[in-house]
Amino acid sequence: MIQYKDRIFWLQTQNTSYVLCVTKFNHLEHVYYGPKILEGQNIEALRFKNSAITGSCVNYDSSDDTYCLDTLCLEWSGTGRGDYRHSPLEIKMPDGSFVHDFIYKKHKIFRGSTKSDTLPNAYGMPEECTTLIITLEDESNQIELELYYTVFHDTDVITRRAVLNNDSTVCKLSQNEDSLVHRMCQNGDAPVGSVNQNQNKVVIRRFSSMMLDLPARNFVMTTFDGGWIKETHRHTKEVTYGMYVNSSTTGSSSNRHNPGFLLSEKGADQEHGFVYGFNLIYSGNHYGSVELSNLDIARVEIGINSHCFEWELKCGESFETPEAVMTFSNKGFNGASHHMHDFINEHIVRGNWKKKERPVLTNDWEAYFFDFNENKLLQLAKQAKKLGAELFVLDDGWFGNRNSDKSGLGDYQVNKKKLPDGIKGFADKIRKIGLEAGLWFEPEMVNKDSDLYRRHKDYAVELPGKKSTLGRNQLVLNLCKPEVQDYIVDSVSKILDEAGITYVKWDMNRHMSEIFSDTLANQGEFFHRYIIGLYSVLNRIFGTRPNILLESCSSGGNRFDLGMLCFSPQIWSSDDTDPIERLQIQEGLSYLYPLSAMGAHVSGTPHQQTLRRTPLSTRFNVSAFGCLGYELDLRKLSKVQKDEIKEQIEYYKKHRQLFQYGIFSRVETLKNNKVQWQCMSEDKSNIITGFFQTLAGAAEGYDLLRVYGLKESSFYTIETKPQSLYIERFGDLLKHIMPVELNPDGFILRTANKVYCLKDCVEKQEVQGAAFESGILLNNQYMGTGYNNQIRMLGDFGSSLYLIQENQRNQENKKNQENKKNQENKKNQDNQ
Ligand code: DGJ
Repeated sequence: MIQYKDRIFWLQTQNTSYVLCVTKFNHLEHVYYGPKILEGQNIEALRFKNSAITGSCVNYDSSDDTYCLDTLCLEWSGTGRGDYRHSPLEIKMPDGSFVHDFIYKKHKIFRGSTKSDTLPNAYGMPEECTTLIITLEDESNQIELELYYTVFHDTDVITRRAVLNNDSTVCKLSQNEDSLVHRMCQNGDAPVGSVNQNQNKVVIRRFSSMMLDLPARNFVMTTFDGGWIKETHRHTKEVTYGMYVNSSTTGSSSNRHNPGFLLSEKGADQEHGFVYGFNLIYSGNHYGSVELSNLDIARVEIGINSHCFEWELKCGESFETPEAVMTFSNKGFNGASHHMHDFINEHIVRGNWKKKERPVLTNDWEAYFFDFNENKLLQLAKQAKKLGAELFVLDDGWFGNRNSDKSGLGDYQVNKKKLPDGIKGFADKIRKIGLEAGLWFEPEMVNKDSDLYRRHKDYAVELPGKKSTLGRNQLVLNLCKPEVQDYIVDSVSKILDEAGITYVKWDMNRHMSEIFSDTLANQGEFFHRYIIGLYSVLNRIFGTRPNILLESCSSGGNRFDLGMLCFSPQIWSSDDTDPIERLQIQEGLSYLYPLSAMGAHVSGTPHQQTLRRTPLSTRFNVSAFGCLGYELDLRKLSKVQKDEIKEQIEYYKKHRQLFQYGIFSRVETLKNNKVQWQCMSEDKSNIITGFFQTLAGAAEGYDLLRVYGLKESSFYTIETKPQSLYIERFGDLLKHIMPVELNPDGFILRTANKVYCLKDCVEKQEVQGAAFESGILLNNQYMGTGYNNQIRMLGDFGSSLYLIQENQRNQENKKNQENKKNQENKKNQDNQ
């Protein structure tokens, strides 16, 4: 998977090649990243040409006036030697200057992945991946930079990270003098040492995880942006000369800009064209950028954000960046997403829940908010059980004096007024009903009005002498402090063990402000040390309790990133449960993350977040493309609604593997008011596709249902998932189909609506796989005239699911053909 020959590195995945070489002055030049090519071939045709002197260039060495760092495609760039593009590293050197120039020193290649000392990163078995570590050295100061590349062959992903070692000769001398000097500041220990350590320190002010220069090809940058209840909306920008930045400064990966982004050639669509994908295994402030240079080279970077960041490296110390993730596909956005999805399921998510089906849950939050008691909870749980749920999640409000978001956060003693038998007693009752018990925590936060804050003001992040600003009435706990980490680990673990909890929702509901820790001499370390502290806490609690399913949450999708996915196999995608908003949110997420990572719940209507009313069928049809839950007051549902939910959960369970782990693709639709998604089994025999309509147009034309990737010659049966049409939806229009005139708001119809409903159109057809690629025409939508059960009653926000299954006949034919072949073979052998 990785080969080095003639100063050229060949990194090969199943379908892609990544090539770099060592230049005559020992810089690392980026040569190629794209569709797979044969290793060992002459690379001259692929290299950026430097046959002429470029005006305004600063010449690197007088022996070659065409060698100019600014005009090269590089793998890593320094500062102060003639490359004026954005540098991935800004360091203040021991001599006080900012000049550095890293050149090739040595490398090693080995099977398997590496484990970062302080941060979570991707993992793989020796047969799944290969790692290359290239060591570069700054000539003048002898500071080492190690570039790590791990090639995950089958998923077409390459990860990169960098480690800076302040390991100069001067340091080594002083180390000999003073053997107490330790390497690494990874565990927060201040290294012990002599004065020389400080004298030779390096100050890191910016340090990206990777850098890559690609020849431009009319690139479009796609980012996933938003805010609370409108996360990960897709935005595109054409990359012209200048800098395009995707970053977060809130203390977490943020709901403003997800760390992942894409770079595609203009005109690429879901199935065609070159698409590069980048992401970061990190949950703190991130920074990603694309810079198009005057010579049409696009420089891509991703890593920790330099906002308020400063890190001192004394003699003998190292700093490691988070790991960056890169992929390439020439099969459009879906191609790049498939790589990312497989990679996350195989090499990011770990432990007992890796590739395991996720339970259907009920959460009490949108049903009751803070207003509950045990009786109300148990009623909800009983109803959930009857409808088919498998797990009950008790959300916020169960501890301390937490009857609103103004108090109690930090006090994890159960509120006995609400739960007289404690959490264990409550969890036992839930288990008796036949459900697993799950619990909400927000361990990184504290209310000023809490016993914890009254006891330990020093645990909260506040700047002495300055006013503290609150977010959702709360302060952040200082996870840079070991005693705060211990408090969280102890209080959460105790409850989990006592009550036999098998699912945790780990919430985090504010951006950071007034960052300060009295344990740090350099406040520039705060943001990063906080995240290291968080990972350590998560590891201590959940690493030792692998049976617990952790769902991370941060006001919804404020921390939906690969760092959290290393601990929590699924993440609550958004506090917005309106399916029409979710179409954008979940679709945005799907570019970078698999459906198995997305929490998606059916909630009550009108929706809390938008006041929009949507059909129950659409709420399910959208949530089914993710980890399904129900988050509404089930007690208040009518009989027909309960029947429908029961049937939804049954359908979901039957096809759960497909919904959570099938090959997910976004389907190009012909109109802006349509969205289509599909999930396909590995063997292409089972597919579910969802067809969604936002605002209905009058007399809508035909709808084309396309399905990607089926076996061209096989025949498939397509059948609409049956779903209900509630008669209340039609109001006075009912007069057109009723034999007698009834008041739509009168007793009879209101009662009828609870026990009786119409059925939406079900289409069943047999179609050849190849025909699906071009699309089949669905039955008419309602067009303003008449109604019968063959009309698709979509209206505003309507949708349908279609199950597409390879015909039994095909399989029988195939079996018969195989049998025939075997018989013939046998006959031939007998004759010989
Ligand atoms: C924010 C979360 O995103 C919600 O789902 C809920 O858990 C609330 N916090 C509880 O305070």
